[in-house]
Amino acid sequence: MPILRTVVDPEESHKLAVWMAKWRLTAKDRVPDDEKLSVRIFGRKITNPIGLAAGFDKNGEAIDGLFDLGFGYVEIGSVTPEPQPGNPPPRLFRLNNDKSVINRYGFNSHGHKAIEVRLRDRLRKYFYREMKLHPTTTATMIAEGTSLSDALGVNRSLREGKLLGINLGKNKWSDPESVDDYVKGIRTLGGYADVLIINVSSPNTPGLRGLQRKGIFERLLKEAVSSRDELKEPRPALLVKIAPDLSDEELEDIADAAVHSNVDGVIVSNTSISRPSSLKSGGLSGPPIKSLSLRALRKIYQRTNGKLTLIGCGGIDSAEDALEYAKAGATSVQLYTSFGYDGVGKAREIKDGLVKLLKDKKWTDMIGKGEMDNTNPEDKIN
Ligand SMILES: Cc1cc2nc3c(=O)[nH]c(=O)nc-3n(C[C@H](O)[C@H](O)[C@H](O)COP(=O)(O)O)c2cc1C
Repeated sequence: MPILRTVVDPEESHKLAVWMAKWRLTAKDRVPDDEKLSVRIFGRKITNPIGLAAGFDKNGEAIDGLFDLGFGYVEIGSVTPEPQPGNPPPRLFRLNNDKSVINRYGFNSHGHKAIEVRLRDRLRKYFYREMKLHPTTTATMIAEGTSLSDALGVNRSLREGKLLGINLGKNKWSDPESVDDYVKGIRTLGGYADVLIINVSSPNTPGLRGLQRKGIFERLLKEAVSSRDELKEPRPALLVKIAPDLSDEELEDIADAAVHSNVDGVIVSNTSISRPSSLKSGGLSGPPIKSLSLRALRKIYQRTNGKLTLIGCGGIDSAEDALEYAKAGATSVQLYTSFGYDGVGKAREIKDGLVKLLKDKKWTDMIGKGEMDNTNPEDKIN
């Protein structure tokens, strides 16, 4: 990726990187994860807490290539119900000086159906390869509603000690206040996911972030939880992903609503709409948003007394950053932008760094063990 970055336009290099991961032309992380990195999340053990955030593999084309790189968790999407092209290019901009990115993709997505077909095909191939189950047997089982991975006791990631997340978005033309698109996503794709994510925080779909408003947010989560509860066992965990640009009061309301609605956790956070005024519109990601995301995560952790599982995301570029999120209350973390800049070794680099930093401690010893950082995040962004 660092090489790709110098030769082509950002969106073209993104596509090429997905294509390489899809055909598994990228490196493989063959070193087993150190036991001190393992963590239990949503009732399951993952061998390391470093995840790839949504938006890199929007259409679930490169799942296995991405797991090969050593992530403990891979999140695909956001996926919209119907296919849609997203915003017109250019819509991805690099800010090389601070290793950050602005994107206004606007949910370019192949849609639920195409992604379901792709995930089903991945399952069939896996069972044929690993279990010698004939394709027609697997097809019949799937048609009858039998979840193969569950029948045979493997995660939907189809990898031991790793989880697959599917992030759900909304079509551009859908009613901004409606939760139907998420319900459709839960029903269509829930059987393929270990974790489902309700994305109410991307800044590039008109009205979407308004779903974080008090009142509407709790209704949305309750409907989503009850649709998830209608799925067959074992049901995927259901999370909501929020923006970093929320006031203390809004964060407290979000924390309370998340607890009342019984969601399993919150991803903090998506891209930010704050930036120096000279920069383009869209969502900002990378190191400049870290303090904003951390502040939001800390606030939610304190408000919920650690009762809610939190996944930290925003500007993670090193093992130190990952650990800062754990101390603030994150059970695991995700990254995207630093992977885009530094390439395929990013998960391994952070895991090795963590093993050194942790010394004789474990990752799980660090969760919620941080000191307060009262710096005003706006000072750091501008
Ligand atoms: C190009 C790009 C596309 C993204 N697309 C999505 C998306 O479709 N859904 C989503 O929930 N987050 C999306 N994100 C947000 C990331 O998942 C992540 O929350 C954010 O970038 C902060 O993490 P980072 O600083 O490590 O990149 C996108 C980010 C980038 C840079």
